[in-house]
Amino acid sequence: MKFFIDTGIVEEIVQAKEWGFIDGVTTNPSLIAKSGRTQEEVISEICQIIDGPISAEVISTEKEGMIKEGAELAKINDNVVIKLPLTEDGISACKWFSDNGIKTNVTLCFSPLQALLAAKNGATYISPFIGRLDDIGHDGMRIIEEIRHIYDNYGYPTEILAASIRHSTHVRDAAMVGADVSTMPLKVLKQLFKHPLTDSGLEAFLRDHAQSQNK
Ligand code: G3P
Repeated sequence: MKFFIDTGIVEEIVQAKEWGFIDGVTTNPSLIAKSGRTQEEVISEICQIIDGPISAEVISTEKEGMIKEGAELAKINDNVVIKLPLTEDGISACKWFSDNGIKTNVTLCFSPLQALLAAKNGATYISPFIGRLDDIGHDGMRIIEEIRHIYDNYGYPTEILAASIRHSTHVRDAAMVGADVSTMPLKVLKQLFKHPLTDSGLEAFLRDHAQSQNK
């Protein structure tokens, strides 16, 4: 499974890169707004830090605007992936980008049928939002399972990018049901390391070592 960090804060990406297992980055307009900087600035800087797919989302809601904006973003770096909303215009624009060899990430996906449309138009990634589905009492992980099943039935190469991940259990479950990628905030990446028995075990090893040195 690939791990992406979901943030527009460059310092967080620098910190996570130290661990050695970050494969890419996702952003969205809300995350970029939190950074207080322009999308172009943030994306250009991220491309200098991470050598992997970096998703940048269009703001336009009409196909022509999406194509214009996305084509500009794609010029920043070959690693830039154009993030498009799962609307009629977004899906049409996805086809244009696939036909022109530009990678896409179709976002705001909440159903397997939406994911099927994205795959049919050659999306590189589909982003089902599992946390937001859980928030309204639906089963977010079930959507990932259904998309996996459908994509495997027909051999679609579109990668399933589990998004809107809120905690480490989401990451475990997404890996169990075969999502290709999990994108998560720094807070969740840190949770992946944690187990109380690791902490208490290490504490005991260090205490025993210190005691043996004092003899
Ligand atoms: O980047 C898309 C997604 O991960 C957003 O997550 O927590 O705002 O639902 P969230």
